[in-house]
Amino acid sequence: MSLVGVFDSGVGGLSILDEALRQLPQHDYIYLADSANAPYGEKSSEWIAERSLELCRHLARSGCDAIVVACNTATAEAIKQIRDQVPIPVIGVEPGIKPASMQTQNGVVGVLATEATLKSDKFNALLATLPNDCRFIKQAGAGLVPLIEMGEADGEETLELLAKHLEPIQDAGADTIVLGCTHYPFLRKAIRKLLGNSITLIDTSDAVVRQLRRQLEQFKSDEGLNEERHGSVSFVSSKDDAPLLKMARDLMRSDLNNHALNSSMLDSQ
Ligand code: DGL
Repeated sequence: MSLVGVFDSGVGGLSILDEALRQLPQHDYIYLADSANAPYGEKSSEWIAERSLELCRHLARSGCDAIVVACNTATAEAIKQIRDQVPIPVIGVEPGIKPASMQTQNGVVGVLATEATLKSDKFNALLATLPNDCRFIKQAGAGLVPLIEMGEADGEETLELLAKHLEPIQDAGADTIVLGCTHYPFLRKAIRKLLGNSITLIDTSDAVVRQLRRQLEQFKSDEGLNEERHGSVSFVSSKDDAPLLKMARDLMRSDLNNHALNSSMLDSQ
């Protein structure tokens, strides 16, 4: 079995961990939330890159066999440096604009992500590879991450702010929205409430976990032999671990009772 580190600025990466526990429950996980510093999306590129690298080094030192950078913002700003400097497989996440361009019926796609992700060279380079018969309406979701961090994903204030952010996307007639931040899958219900069920929502967690599986299979030949096992999950927070564990129970669909759980504070700042 492998030990997998999953890292995000806060609770967003729980959307990826949830999918990982569904597809690959047999592994052990460390979920690292840098909640003391969330949100990352409005911070400088340099800060995000340095902090993300530091935390991935910490996960590698903790014995992880692979790391999922479960944060679009950290992936956009730091994945190259992390891959260069951390000697284990590192899987990143990026907004699913390519699958969105293939699924849209009318060629208008909204991209909801953090300001840092939308401004990043990595995101814009990805955008440039897509055929220009698809129009992307880019919208920064300023203020949404702190509300989700406070457990308010379905709250009134979140709905109001979200409605404002979705307006340009709605006005352009988009039939598809890319959830380009790992916090945003937790807004599914709110988005459906505002825009209805016909809008297609693109979330890449399934593809990210399939990529993790491929990476793990490359260096562990015993994969698949212990499908019955349910591994442990350690929740580590740079702020306060008890609320992180509570949020995980509230936000995730996986039955965490099937796993040995523990929580702690990050010991290397
Ligand atoms: N969950 C993160 C992302 O995917 C970061 C959000 C933030 O901290 O601003 O971009």
